[in-house]
Amino acid sequence: MLKGKVAVITGGSRGIGRAICEKFAENGASIAFIYSGNQEKAEELKSKLLSAGVGAEAYKCNVASFQEVTDTFKQIVKDFGTVDILVNNAGITKDKLLLAMKEQDFGEVIDINLKGMFNTVKQVYPIFAKRKSGKIINISSISGIIGNQGQANYSASKAGVIGFTKSVAKELASRGVCCNAIAPGFIKTDMTAGFDETNPFVESIPQKRMGKPEEVAELALFLASSKSDYITGEVIRIDGGLAM
Ligand code: NAI
Repeated sequence: MLKGKVAVITGGSRGIGRAICEKFAENGASIAFIYSGNQEKAEELKSKLLSAGVGAEAYKCNVASFQEVTDTFKQIVKDFGTVDILVNNAGITKDKLLLAMKEQDFGEVIDINLKGMFNTVKQVYPIFAKRKSGKIINISSISGIIGNQGQANYSASKAGVIGFTKSVAKELASRGVCCNAIAPGFIKTDMTAGFDETNPFVESIPQKRMGKPEEVAELALFLASSKSDYITGEVIRIDGGLAM
């Protein structure tokens, strides 16, 4: 479905990002993934992707740094020739009730989850606009749609992702570029390590289970493929009905 395409995925070495890297590689895309710290895990994923018969490279980069992101994308274009698909997946939480939330907790979450997307989209915007094609997929959250106590910083960043997505979609629509957001609910990853199926909270999910990273990856694949060429500026929930 993505044969010959070059995909950049941020936060690619674990969780949802890793599942997206693997799904895209299975479908023929070459993968340039960005990771923040764990080199061993990144190398292991790179080998796995290469064994799927596609190009693959790991790039250590803090998405919150405009300079690092600029340098990294220059290297990616040098290594792969271009970029066709960008998945902005890197994200963190620093959950606390607002009363206890420090200025730094707010700033770091906004810098990584929201400004990180500005930093990466700035790199592909001229490439996509000139070529008149490209797919941008931004990972938001249902917290950005309905809010969540203890997540004022995270919800604000993820709501910002939705506004950002729609603006970019409008700017680039006439250039054949699609920009959409995915809003997951509770997905089993390191980020939700404190939760499992036995948590009473899971009862409040209409489908009574957490989601799997692979399920989010399937949706990302659809949005990255030509099957979704007439969808842009959309926010798709994948949450077992939680934020209905
Ligand atoms: P995770 O914690 O397993 O993965 C996050 C990834 O982002 C990691 O690979 C991490 O290294 C990377 N990252 C963090 N800060 C970075 C930085 N400054 N520069 C580059 N990379 C950085 O979490 P998970 O669950 O896989 O999350 C992926 C995305 O999905 C995040 O944006 C998260 O907010 C979002 N999400 C997750 C949900 C869940 O239930 N797991 C629900 C809703 C949204």
